[in-house]
Amino acid sequence: MTNKTFAIIKPDAVNNRYTGKIYDRILQTGFTILSAKLLKMTLAQAEGFYAVHRERPFYGELTTFMSSGACMVLALEKENAVAAWRETIGATNPEEAAEGTIRKDFATSLGENAVHGSDSDENAEKEIAFFFTESELISNK
Ligand code: CMP
Repeated sequence: MTNKTFAIIKPDAVNNRYTGKIYDRILQTGFTILSAKLLKMTLAQAEGFYAVHRERPFYGELTTFMSSGACMVLALEKENAVAAWRETIGATNPEEAAEGTIRKDFATSLGENAVHGSDSDENAEKEIAFFFTESELISNK
């Protein structure tokens, strides 16, 4: 099934000038980019986006980091997009990420792990809607 996922190129990767390299991986892995934008989240936006983690001990660190600089948010489409993107980015902790994955090649640490990926189709829809309006999602079909 062709479906959508949501990705973020996080502030560490943008700061380290990896945006282009990661964008190229997205395209070379066969994802269609429905929309992309460079933005700097406010703390309130980061807190809203990661609200599911608000009870976790790392919530403050995570939301401060995600609002610390520019990031690129993307809506992606591919066959089994959620699983395909998670496979492309690798494990959350870059020390556990497989060879050839984005986190293995570009992440700094568990907290600054270069990219985000939705964990389910339901969350992908919610996360895309958090950053994009319907008219910003470009379908070439
Ligand atoms: P992400 O896929 O964006 O979803 C939640 C993020 O929380 C995750 O990537 C990590 O960057 C971050 N995270 C998870 N566990 C920890 C932790 N123990 N300490 C700091 N950050 C964490």
